[in-house]
Amino acid sequence: MTASDTPSLVDIHSHLVPGVDDGARHLPGVLNAIERLAQVGIRRVITTPHIDASLALTPTRLASRLDEVSKAWQTAHDAIQAEFPQVEYLRGHEVLVDLPEPDLSDPRLRLAGTSFVLIEWPRLHVPPGTPRVVRYICDQGHRPVIAHPERYSGMIRKTELPRQWKEAGALLQVNYGSLVGRYGSEAQAVAWRLIEGGQADYLASDFHGQSRLRIYKREAWTELEERGGEEALDLLCRVNPARILEDLEPLTVPSVSAPSSLLQRLRGIIVRRERSMERQA
Ligand SMILES: [Fe+2]
Repeated sequence: MTASDTPSLVDIHSHLVPGVDDGARHLPGVLNAIERLAQVGIRRVITTPHIDASLALTPTRLASRLDEVSKAWQTAHDAIQAEFPQVEYLRGHEVLVDLPEPDLSDPRLRLAGTSFVLIEWPRLHVPPGTPRVVRYICDQGHRPVIAHPERYSGMIRKTELPRQWKEAGALLQVNYGSLVGRYGSEAQAVAWRLIEGGQADYLASDFHGQSRLRIYKREAWTELEERGGEEALDLLCRVNPARILEDLEPLTVPSVSAPSSLLQRLRGIIVRRERSMERQA
């Protein structure tokens, strides 16, 4: 069995609550997206609509937003249970950290109500002092997971920042699409640098339910398998995301080497050949 056959992958980042953010707009779009995620082996989905941390400064606005998301999520949940009973549809948020001391105490802001919280910085720019913000969040008893660190502007030059984030207590989630160039060559290079350095803790789809866009899970897996990264894949896509649901820290992911050696290139050829034989079977 190859790593790609591993059942029950868990996806911790997507925008599949109907009509609440820039993700899937309507229930049929959510159902289509869930079907597509299931087709690539993802059976547990913690979907994560956008929310601004500063909303918590006005409790009535936060309550109203959380109610809106809860209602839409419940509608989708009931439909998914009826149509795709094999898929577990859970929720959290992708919290835009737009202030230095975010209040993340409402469990609905966090991933499936655990201590883990998916966060991002505004406008894909990293403001100064983010390790301090990470430490603050940890001090509040939460575990921040930084969404797609590879996508931030100028990350190609900020080689020390991922280490600083991790030392401050953050965990890092790379997008599948980044590994295959979906967000451009710089994001791709940074994504691989994180994987090669064993700094990524999770891989996720960040799927917005677009009917014309791919999920990129299969492509990313093929690339990683060609580099001999089966163990890393299992940890990044199955073991570590599943540990979130148990409120457990991720296991250390081994570094994956660049595809430079003859042995690895041969391995890549074998993996590709196996894949094409599987497809023809
Ligand atoms: Fe996202």
